[in-house]
Amino acid sequence: MSERNLVVLGLQWGDEGKGKVIDCLAGTFDAVVRCQGGANAGHTVVVGGHKTVLHLLPSGVLHPGKCLIGAGVVVDPVALVAEIDELAAGGADPSTKLMLSDRCQLVTPAHPALDRAFERAKGKGKVGTTLRGIGPCYADKVARIGLRGADLLDPELPARLRASIRAHNRTLDQYGAKPVDPHGAAVERWLAAARRIAPLVADTAAWIQDLMDKGGRILSEGAQGTMLDIDHGTYPYVTSSSTGVGGVITGAGLNHRQVGLVAGVVKAYTTRVGGGPFPTELDPARAEALRQRGGEFGATTGRPRRCGWLDLVAVRHAVRLNGVEAIALTKLDILDPEPEIPVCVAYELDGKRIDTVPAQLSDLARAKPIYETLPGWNASIRGVSDRSRLPAACEAYIAFIERRLGIPARWIGTGPGREETIVG
Ligand code: IMP
Repeated sequence: MSERNLVVLGLQWGDEGKGKVIDCLAGTFDAVVRCQGGANAGHTVVVGGHKTVLHLLPSGVLHPGKCLIGAGVVVDPVALVAEIDELAAGGADPSTKLMLSDRCQLVTPAHPALDRAFERAKGKGKVGTTLRGIGPCYADKVARIGLRGADLLDPELPARLRASIRAHNRTLDQYGAKPVDPHGAAVERWLAAARRIAPLVADTAAWIQDLMDKGGRILSEGAQGTMLDIDHGTYPYVTSSSTGVGGVITGAGLNHRQVGLVAGVVKAYTTRVGGGPFPTELDPARAEALRQRGGEFGATTGRPRRCGWLDLVAVRHAVRLNGVEAIALTKLDILDPEPEIPVCVAYELDGKRIDTVPAQLSDLARAKPIYETLPGWNASIRGVSDRSRLPAACEAYIAFIERRLGIPARWIGTGPGREETIVG
């Protein structure tokens, strides 16, 4: 792997612990690029006991390499400035190493307002979005009416922003929602933030290609997970971007020969936030115990995450779609006290055993997990950094996952810190 590029993707419903994995691996790369999503993501990095939650900035930001926000990302200037300022206040100002794609899309103050209005209108069927305006911003992108990174340098930006907001106010009005004042404080704040980040705008895809020509190496960072992918996830309970390797190619501006090793991040159990079917979801009492132990509360919204056992049908779906060659298995220590650990290896749907994810949500909602139950290890593995020192039952759990997926676990998380990792 040492001479190859690397892609790190989530293989479940997001929140797999990608932030820590990327932070651990970023040190040897010339640059890290965020490829899709926006401030809906919450990537937690713990260094020297200090916790940093990143939303838009790549999780490699705490390393010396360049940090790129690619064309596939939807960027809220206010959120980005807040994040830059927070890091700068902690003594790690990222501005000098940060580049913002001239082709990324801009989240305007109208987008979160639309997100809220659409969610409210859906009532019980709401997606449970992060309300960061992600879906409406991507909708503008494909409708070809969005504002982009390059527009931050356009002297007409204030007028174009206000025109865009006025157009969206007509939709907000139809939904009975409060309009956004095109001359209000939120818009002024947005324009001030836009001015701050304008100097960061660059042709990041051309920069990446130049780096490739010089033999440099890049780490591409996925946000969310394959089960939240707009095409291959549990639609419509998904996010609005391509969270797999396809999103890396388009979102960073890499060509297919430059992707490199695709590593998938898998949490040792499953969580999801928001609505939608979740076959291995635990009953409320057991879910609560896992949630408390694993600190399973949204890094962006603080919402409690739904918790369940590992679903290898979903993970295998993601491994095959993305050509994953190795996994990072995270938060294994959270399972320490479990007496036994069920792992879902197939679903039963209408009396038939299936090992793929049905497209029809009502089918997925009816699918019953078929479990193989493994013994727990009933010991603390917190901080273990040598695989041969794991209890036998814990090693057997890892080996079971590797066998079922047909790929190795090259990184295993035994605690939140950088050093609490087994590298194999
Ligand atoms: P949106 O991306 O805010 O539109 O939300 C759509 C769905 O994706 C909701 O179920 C969110 O909870 C989920 N989601 C978005 N970003 C993340 C993330 O970073 N981790 C986990 N779930 C996410």
